[in-house]
Parts: sequence; structure tokens; C-alpha cells
Amino acid sequence: MKIAVLGTGGGARAHIAKLVELGHEVHVGTRDPKATLARTEPDMMGTPPFASFLAEHPGVELHTFADAAERAELVINGIDGHNAVAALSAAAGQLAGKTLVDYAVPFVYNPDLEHPWPTPWGVMPRLDPCDIDSLGERIQRALPDTKVVKAFVTQEQATVVDPKAVGGGEHTMFIAGEHADAKRTVTDLLEAYGWNDVLDLGPLVCARGMEMYSHMHSAIGFALGFGTHFGIKVVR
Ligand SMILES: NC(=O)c1ccc[n+]([C@@H]2O[C@H](COP(=O)([O-])OP(=O)(O)OC[C@H]3O[C@@H](n4cnc5c(N)ncnc54)[C@H](OP(=O)(O)O)[C@@H]3O)[C@@H](O)[C@H]2O)c1
Repeated sequence: MKIAVLGTGGGARAHIAKLVELGHEVHVGTRDPKATLARTEPDMMGTPPFASFLAEHPGVELHTFADAAERAELVINGIDGHNAVAALSAAAGQLAGKTLVDYAVPFVYNPDLEHPWPTPWGVMPRLDPCDIDSLGERIQRALPDTKVVKAFVTQEQATVVDPKAVGGGEHTMFIAGEHADAKRTVTDLLEAYGWNDVLDLGPLVCARGMEMYSHMHSAIGFALGFGTHFGIKVVR
């Protein structure tokens, strides 16, 4: 299948590598391919420059966001959540009629808050939107001709593409969206990744809870210790 991964961050790289391994044709989207390839320093999270990742994954093509979306049947959104609606809106024509899996979190970094949450790496970002709206819904409203599915967001992406690395795969992945056929496509991809418990929460409004879980995910991560991989299981 022709799949576009919009984003060059650590999460996007996990999907790109796994999709190549599964035999898919992968097109990666970035703001400016030349600028992305020219970077030589790791980013603030220590992620190595994208050019070195690309050199280890021959056959993967780097394009603008719109050009990558144009070439794909299925699109994964890994664009920084605060900037995702604007970036995706600029590629609305190329995304029309396609399934878009969104795993972004609408984090606003370095917020000026009365009651900040100190973390080992600075103040916890705040969510915007939160509670009464979600990034997933905003993307769907901005792209009415695209089938948006919220998924992957409650996990580190390294675990999303390798669920059996945690608890033998005995944990739960959530999806939500308005389009049954698009959710079937995303579930097929998740099963190819190794998931055997995909819980369809129903309409895209459920993206609110999926995105808000990011704070709980962080809290669990801090409690377990940095670098510990984990999942959550809905026991029923
Ligand atoms: N990493 C994970 O395991 C994980 C798990 C759950 C949720 N998330 C969420 O998923 C999203 C992506 O995460 P990630 O770790 O894969 O990557 P990231 O480092 O959060 O985001 C990198 C991507 O965002 C793009 N970007 C940054 N600023 C932009 C702007 N002003 N306009 C347009 N694009 C912009 C970058 O474009 P360039 O390529 O041009 O630099 C890059 O492709 C985030 O919202 C994150 O919170 C991540």
C-alpha cells in the first residue's frame, strides 16, 4: 500500500521503519525537504537529523506534506499538534477522499500557568483544545472531505508499532472516528503491527479523552521511571 507519514519526528520514524519492514511504499512529509535534509544537529529531544535516518531506510521518499499526501492512499499525521490543523489544511486537496490517522497531541509548550506541573524536563505542556473539543475533531472540521481516525495517541509510537514488546501485547489500542471504512483500514494496519485488542470508542468526539489521557500517560511514565515502556489494558 502507498502510505504517507506526515512528520519527521521520533514517532513518525517508528511508523516509517515499521511500514517499510511490512513492505509498504512510504512517502514522508516535511515542511521543506531541502531544509530537513540540511539539518546536521539532533533536535532538542536528542533525535538525530532526519538525513541519517533516511540513509538507513533506502527507498523512503521525502516530500512536502502536500506532495507526500498526494502520493498516498492512507496518511498518518505526525505533525506537531499545535501546528497540525494549519499544516494539514494547506494540503486539503491532496488529503480529500483519504483516510487520515491522527496521533498528534495538541500540546502548547512552555505554558505560563498559575499552577504549573514541574516535570524532569520542564513544565508540562498544556492541552489546547481540551475537554470541550479535540485536535482530532478540529482536523475533521477543517478537512470535511477526509476521513479522520484518531488512533495510536495513547502510546509511545515505538510501542504502537511493536505492541508485543510490552506485556506480550496484552494491552489495548483505542480508535475513534466517523467513518466505519476508515476505521477498518486503520484496524487492519494495527493488526499488521501486532495488535490483538483494538477498542473502537465510536465517534470522533472520543478523541477528547484519548488526547487528555496524555497527562495520565506522562504521570505513569514518571512513576515507572524514564524510558520504561508500558501499555494499558481495558479488562472486561
Ligand atoms: N513520539 C511519540 O511517541 C508520540 C506519542 C503520542 C503522541 N505524540 C504526538 O504526536 C505528534 C508528533 O510527534 P512526533 O514525536 O512524531 O514528532 P514531533 O517532534 O512532535 O513533531 C515533528 C513534526 O512536526 C512538524 N512541525 C513542527 N512545527 C511545525 C510548524 N510550525 N508547522 C508545520 N509543521 C511543524 C515538523 O516538521 P519538519 O519535518 O518540517 O521539521 C515535524 O515533521 C506530537 O503532537 C506528539 O505530541 C507523539
